[in-house]
Amino acid sequence: MSSAKPFNKVTVFGAGGTNIGHHLVKALLSRPGIFTVSIIARKSSKSTFASEAKVHYIEDELPHERLVEVLRGQDVLVSAIGFGAIQLETKLIDAAIEAKVRRFLPSEYGVNNTYQAARDLCPVFDAKGAIVDLLKEKELEGLTWTSIPTGLWLDWALNPDIAFANINLRTHTASVWAKGDHKLSWTTLPWAAEGIVQIILAGEVSANKVVPIRAFEASQNEIIQILESVQKVKYRVTNIDPDSVIPESQKIWREEKKGPAALTLVKAGFFLGGYGSNLVDEGIVPTGNEYLTLSPLSVQDIVREATRLWG
Ligand SMILES: NC(=O)c1ccc[n+]([C@@H]2O[C@H](COP(=O)([O-])OP(=O)(O)OC[C@H]3O[C@@H](n4cnc5c(N)ncnc54)[C@H](OP(=O)(O)O)[C@@H]3O)[C@@H](O)[C@H]2O)c1
Repeated sequence: MSSAKPFNKVTVFGAGGTNIGHHLVKALLSRPGIFTVSIIARKSSKSTFASEAKVHYIEDELPHERLVEVLRGQDVLVSAIGFGAIQLETKLIDAAIEAKVRRFLPSEYGVNNTYQAARDLCPVFDAKGAIVDLLKEKELEGLTWTSIPTGLWLDWALNPDIAFANINLRTHTASVWAKGDHKLSWTTLPWAAEGIVQIILAGEVSANKVVPIRAFEASQNEIIQILESVQKVKYRVTNIDPDSVIPESQKIWREEKKGPAALTLVKAGFFLGGYGSNLVDEGIVPTGNEYLTLSPLSVQDIVREATRLWG
């Protein structure tokens, strides 16, 4: 048992929208006896936030002095910023160090971005990996960190407006990467958020480590098969050829820095073997599931709920 003081005061940056930051705040607020929850939001934010959390609105440029002011006395700063703005985490880290925040969680929540093959594949993974490198460099300045890959969120990916897995449950169409048989790790938004909070509760054991959490492994083909049996319809499936799409997207990214090319490479990283998206079989570090008290997730239940919502 660690003798270190538990983490009680937690600030979330990137709590807007409906994705992981929103769910993290919810999971933290569900333990009012343990956590006092604050949010840092940009003044331009259009998001609404739970009234039980203290919200600090600060200038969009995230001025250092103001960040330090609102972070003083906080134990943990969790970043849930969208992937397009990962670079801003350098400002959060500098301010957290000066404010003597004890733990920083970068906005990871996907694959293990310290995996070199993933970093070489995709600029988003590389940018996130560079943040972990920076955190390692800053350890001597007193800030500890925990990076938490959560696999892909199946509930989010099945929303047909997102169709991140290129599986559309409204049009009954899918495009699978290669043969569609790579089993990657999955969670859902609420499960991942609860897991992240339980890793925060685990305290010192996760200091300065990548601690992946995962609920189950499944391939694109398996998800399609479950959808077919739930919806009683045959999907029209095409295949994406990684040997042409990856070099083409990398070229577009190198020459034009276009977001859709980066996103295609994120998908390649999740849906193909070799980039660490199976956090168990391809894991380069042990998972942190042993610290969780979460019930297992049923992929069938998630698919049924998605078809009820959007089918
Ligand atoms: N595993 C998965 O399936 C999966 C899926 C999607 C994303 N992710 C990862 O999860 C992390 C969070 O992504 P997300 O989709 O949850 O985030 P998001 O909804 O895109 O963004 C979260 C919040 O970050 C704030 N934000 C966005 N851009 C910003 C900027 N330029 N400057 C300052 N604040 C900004 C916004 O707050 P306001 O609206 O209040 O301004 C926004 O609501 C990322 O690292 C992403 O790569 C994982």
